Amino acid sequence: MRFLGKTTVAVAALMLAMPIAHARAADAAAGKAVYDKKCQNCHGADGKGDAKMEAKIKARTKLEIDGKSDEEMLKLLKEGKKPMPGYEKSLSAADIDNVWAYTKSLLGK
Ligand code: HEC
Repeated sequence: MRFLGKTTVAVAALMLAMPIAHARAADAAAGKAVYDKKCQNCHGADGKGDAKMEAKIKARTKLEIDGKSDEEMLKLLKEGKKPMPGYEKSLSAADIDNVWAYTKSLLGK
């Protein structure tokens, strides 16, 4: 039981340390690889959307982030918004941060 207690403390300490590790600068270059694989088929290589995909899913695919905060956009990336899938399960938190940094750089933000 003593051992278990120590393990619990160690796990708790690790969980506390994670947001700090998570706060490191997002890596837009690493995000490009994620974008090219997961996002460009809908949003286009340049973020300006994809006409064929728009006809197929009947939704706007040109990226527009004006006035939205990083928090709102990261939430959207994690949870999705029909017809866009959520990436919480298929991407790591770091990948989501990175792909968001890359998306912003695409739009000159
Ligand atoms: C199946 C096609 C599809 C895929 C794949 C997709 N998206 Fe989207 N995405 C959409 C659509 C459609 C919207 C618009 C939703 C709305 O507001 O109606 C959207 C909205 C967004 C928005 C919000 C801004 C805006 O223009 O409304 C961001 C940011 C975004 N997508 C980024 C991404 C990123 C980054 C990826 C890859 C990790 C991705 N999307 C993958 C279809 C897609």
